[in-house]
Order: sequence, then structure tokens, then C-alpha cells
Amino acid sequence: MTRVIVTGGARGIGAAIVEHFVSAGAEVVVLDRDPVERTDVVAIDVDLAEAADTRTAGLAAVERLGGVDVVVNNAGIFDSTPLLEIDVDTWDRVFAVNVRAMVTLMQAVVPSMAAGSTVVNLASMGGKAGEPGQAHYAASKAAVISLTRVAAMEFGPRGVRVNCVCPGYVLTDLGAAGRDPARVAAWEAGSPLGRLSTPAEIAGVVGFLAGPDSVPITGEAMNASSGHWMT
Ligand SMILES: NC(=O)c1ccc[n+]([C@@H]2O[C@H](COP(=O)([O-])OP(=O)(O)OC[C@H]3O[C@@H](n4cnc5c(N)ncnc54)[C@H](O)[C@@H]3O)[C@@H](O)[C@H]2O)c1
Repeated sequence: MTRVIVTGGARGIGAAIVEHFVSAGAEVVVLDRDPVERTDVVAIDVDLAEAADTRTAGLAAVERLGGVDVVVNNAGIFDSTPLLEIDVDTWDRVFAVNVRAMVTLMQAVVPSMAAGSTVVNLASMGGKAGEPGQAHYAASKAAVISLTRVAAMEFGPRGVRVNCVCPGYVLTDLGAAGRDPARVAAWEAGSPLGRLSTPAEIAGVVGFLAGPDSVPITGEAMNASSGHWMT
């Protein structure tokens, strides 16, 4: 049985990722600060902004699973503030959750991962393109893309692959703009397919990068934006 750790699996894309792996028969541990409603996974309550707690939670997850085959670093936070107005605490929290937690979790669990195991990180098209108001978020996601490449180089000799997914707009709780029908219509119009991607579709891409069909792929930042961006 595949053993999987998913951060931020309580809701949104993370919940869809959890559903994807559970449906495939995997054993899943979720690391989240919010309650996990499903009873067929193990939930560990942790604030991923706290590095020591993140390490402890990662080690506890590995112990609970008896090893780990797939790590999905999904948890992330978003904030929209003009660059000239971003305060230090907000900048630091965005980077603590969006980037440092991935580093800390990989440091905790990768030594336990056997050859053939995989790490999938959630980046964003913001990390390649960016938009006004996203200096901290976009920079953190660009950092995830770079982190993924270097992790792939360093963990490759262990037989561990590391990739990231760059979703475009996905309607979740992450951004309030998703509740504005005019913005959503404009986003849909920006896709050649005339649509946004769903959490379940992003979960499918994560599952592909985590599984055996993507063996030749590592260090990749795969767009999953329904063609909204092609960078
Ligand atoms: N929704 C989008 O349009 C979109 C686009 C591109 C990338 N992404 C990325 O996908 C990932 C998931 O986004 P989402 O839209 O599902 O977000 P969401 O807000 O719906 O869910 C985020 C999850 O992470 C958890 N989380 C956040 N901060 C945490 C912390 N400090 N400690 C523990 N858990 C924490 C939340 O409790 C929640 O379960 C994020 O990394 C996000 O940046 C989302």
C-alpha cells in the first residue's frame, strides 16, 4: 500500500489530493492546522509556519506510516498587498508556510524514503508569471520552483524524484477574488479552453507526478492552468 503525506489536506486542492490517493487505496497522513473531516486518514494538527513543529509532525507521520513513498507539499497561503505596503511579518509568514515548511518537511522525511519514492510540491503560475499585489506570494512560488529543481538534483542519487505543479486559477478558499463572478468570467476567457482547472484535476496531475508513469520526470515545474499561461 502506498504511504502518502499530504500537507494542507483539510480543504481545497489538498482535500482533492487526499481523495485521489485514498481512492487509489493509499494510506494517507494529513498535516494541517485545520480539522480534517474524513475519518479514513490520520490527521496531525500542526502549524506549518513553525519549523520545529513541522519537523516533529513529519517524523510522527513517517513513524505512523512505517515509512513514506509520496510527500505532497501542498499547504500554502495567499495574500494580496501592493509591494510598497507588505509588512515584514506578512512577508515572513508567506515564506514560512509556502517555502520553509517544504524544506523542513523534506529534511525530516526524505532520509526515510526509499528509491522510487517521490515528492510533489505545489507551486503556482504566480511563480512563473506573477501579478500586481503578489510580490510575496509570487516570489515564494518562484522559490518553490527553484527548491524543487535543487531537491531533484540532491535527491536523485537516492532514487527520489521531486517535481512541482503550477496551477493557474482554481476556485478554492485561497483567494477572495474567486468569489467575484466578473473576475472568474475574465479568468475563464483567458484560457484557450474557456475554463478553469478544478481541484480534482490538479490532484490528478499530482498523482501522475507522484506515480510510476512519470518516471523520466524530475526537477520539473508542470503548468496546470488549462492553458491560461504557457510559460
Ligand atoms: N487555488 C488556486 O487558485 C491556486 C493556484 C495556484 C497554486 N495554488 C497552491 O495550491 C496549494 C493549495 O491551495 P488551495 O487553493 O487548496 O488553498 P486553501 O486555502 O483552500 O487550502 C490550504 C490548506 O492549507 C492549510 N494550511 C494553510 N496554512 C497552514 C499552516 N500554517 N499550517 C498548516 N496548514 C496550513 C489550510 O488549513 C488548508 O487546509 C497552495 O500551495 C496554493 O498556493 C492554489
